[in-house]
Amino acid sequence: MKKVLIVYWSGTGNTQAMAESVSRGVGDGGGESILKDAGNATADLVKEAEALAFGCPAMGAEVLEEGEMEPFIASLGSAEVGDKSLGLFGSYDWGDGQWMRDWADRMKGLGAKLDGEGIIVQLEPTEEALIQCYELGKRLAG
Ligand SMILES: Cc1cc2nc3c(=O)[nH]c(=O)nc-3n(C[C@H](O)[C@H](O)[C@H](O)COP(=O)(O)O)c2cc1C
Repeated sequence: MKKVLIVYWSGTGNTQAMAESVSRGVGDGGGESILKDAGNATADLVKEAEALAFGCPAMGAEVLEEGEMEPFIASLGSAEVGDKSLGLFGSYDWGDGQWMRDWADRMKGLGAKLDGEGIIVQLEPTEEALIQCYELGKRLAG
């Protein structure tokens, strides 16, 4: 059974709903889903996982949330994420998705195999976005 680690940060629940859909997809795809909020995630958990999904809304000025998610991401190197499939997702509001483009480039720079360019949704995820998250989970479990 493939171990898929999902790490997310969410202030008002939008990105959390996306994370939960990814997790359901992993389970239905036959994988083992490990769902953690960023405050409880460690680089060691990432190292042990076989595939990854990370979620964070656009915060600050088009950056990751700085209290928990940014330190978590900054703790990772190619030893943890290199050559692993990774899906990114998150909610935003008034921007144009710059935070996700920057984040995707950063993770590619560590050698992660990005699944698409990241699933982004304005504010509360639509049914369509939740289905995309679910399908991401299924692919990561496969
Ligand atoms: C402090 C703060 C900073 C934000 N910065 C941005 C931003 O730079 N760009 C953007 O598109 N949305 C920004 N937003 C909007 C959030 O990304 C949006 O409300 C999102 O749905 C929150 O997701 P969550 O429910 O998972 O916390 C910001 C929101 C807050 C509270």
